[in-house]
Amino acid sequence: MSILQVSELCFKYPDKTILENISFSLEKGDFLCIVGTNGTGKSTLLKLILNILKPTKGEIKILGESASKFTSFDKISYVSQKATGFNADFPATVEEIVALGLYSKKGFLSFPKKSDKLKIESALERVGMKSYSKRLIGKLSGGQQQRVFIAKALVNEPEIIFLDEPTVGIDVKAVDSICCLLGELNKSGITIVMVTHDISSILYHSNKVLHLSEDGSAKILASEEFNSQTIFNHVHHNH
Ligand SMILES: Nc1ncnc2c1ncn2[C@@H]1O[C@H](COP(=O)(O)OP(=O)(O)OP(=O)(O)O)[C@@H](O)[C@H]1O
Ligand SMILES: [Mg+2]
Repeated sequence: MSILQVSELCFKYPDKTILENISFSLEKGDFLCIVGTNGTGKSTLLKLILNILKPTKGEIKILGESASKFTSFDKISYVSQKATGFNADFPATVEEIVALGLYSKKGFLSFPKKSDKLKIESALERVGMKSYSKRLIGKLSGGQQQRVFIAKALVNEPEIIFLDEPTVGIDVKAVDSICCLLGELNKSGITIVMVTHDISSILYHSNKVLHLSEDGSAKILASEEFNSQTIFNHVHHNH
């Protein structure tokens, strides 16, 4: 059974067609990178899958359920574009940010239970940020903040993680370490869907690439169909 199935998907804003007849499917354990130039609809596609936006036409099935009826939000998580970039005195600690990943699913705020604390600790440990748990989020570097947001996405042990450009504005070394972290999470069985422009993470970690074009069409490539040159072309030229 495919874990995500997108069939003949179309999406238009009143004045503009963004996605035109897009179909692809993912199996459990896939690592998909979504590429395309600015404005081709990469973030829009994630928002459609997550039911934040409604398709103009077509169907999306996630974990076997229609996206519009999907309710198992503990099984998926989302790291949105520009999640980081806090003011240095933003009043939340690292562990409080990760805790939001638990509470948003429960729909209420309560004092963390012991089991919640253990989940938060273990998520921070997986991203190498356990020793920062009491620090203010705004006082961390962009790459460290991004790790914390990945921990927040991990705290419910989801089956699929969606990430929208998680490595933008981060230095090369931190990008590598975040991409390796995502690669490890993927090897542990989590399906990953990531919008990115980072060629090395595509080459080394993903097994599928979805390329969105300016005309609204999309093409899916499997790993045996891409190498550094084809990926470079897909990321930097729109064809
Ligand atoms: N509310 C809106 N109304 C009309 N057009 C919109 C709206 N939101 C986004 N758009 C347009 O939809 C297109 C797709 O936007 P989207 O954010 O999905 O692109 P993207 O591929 O994620 O780009 P980027 O690489 O810059 O993040 C863009 O051309 C944008 O201008
Ligand atoms: Mg975007």
